[in-house]
Amino acid sequence: MKILICPDAASARTVAANILKRQILRKPSSVLGLATGRTMEAIYKLLVAEHCEHGLDFSSVTTFNLDEYIGLDGADEQSYRYYMQEHLFSKVNISPERTHVPNGAADDVNLESKNYEAAIAQAGGIDLQLLGLGQNGHIGFNEPLSSLNCRTRAVTLAQTTLEQNAEMFDGNPDNVPSRAITMGTATILESSMALLVVTGQAKAHIAAQTIEGPVTAAVPGSVLQSHPSCLVVLDEEAASALMGRTAIDWQLKHDPELIALMD
Ligand code: GLP
Repeated sequence: MKILICPDAASARTVAANILKRQILRKPSSVLGLATGRTMEAIYKLLVAEHCEHGLDFSSVTTFNLDEYIGLDGADEQSYRYYMQEHLFSKVNISPERTHVPNGAADDVNLESKNYEAAIAQAGGIDLQLLGLGQNGHIGFNEPLSSLNCRTRAVTLAQTTLEQNAEMFDGNPDNVPSRAITMGTATILESSMALLVVTGQAKAHIAAQTIEGPVTAAVPGSVLQSHPSCLVVLDEEAASALMGRTAIDWQLKHDPELIALMD
């Protein structure tokens, strides 16, 4: 796991957007794993700007989103499909048939999950998986105590997640669907590269557990410690509870890969 600490949230998002941009430039037919949530909104905005102002070409890119609420179809404004359309897909030249978000309105969510895994494999696997971190340590919607070996499947959301995501549902946790389809942590671990972006003071404690704590199902994001190529981009606030700061700062000064990312 490599750790990159940026002075503020804006620079963390810029670094993340640049990594995605470079991935697309290096491999125009990249398969990207995408995430939703507030952290990602500005990252997508930067990618849209790259497309509009510098012609960043999404025409051969394929995407797979991490998750979707069960019971919402893509036309529902609170669905993650809708979020992706709003923030990215409708604003760049990506082919709609190359964009994948689990279908939360599927009659058979188990079959939908199985087919989603198969579609990822069929696409040749994920080159770069973008991830946010829930305040309870979830990645995608893999909630605490999910098996670290799990694949795409239907899950029940934690109460803390309903509270965290209530803002998008009139501020009422009771309005948030309590079930979702999510890529599993085993699926996420198979991506060639994982990029976890964490910003804000509210996530400082869980970021420290994810990065420095034991690998445990109690903190699903901690499984990324075993990913062969995982970069965590944080702002100073999210990094404020890290214990091993001296070692991290040393790497930041001497690791050519990290230095290049800060350019
Ligand atoms: C949702 C998504 C997660 C995301 C999390 C963080 O719960 N399912 O994939 O990481 O939100 O959201 P935010 O960036 O709004 O804190």
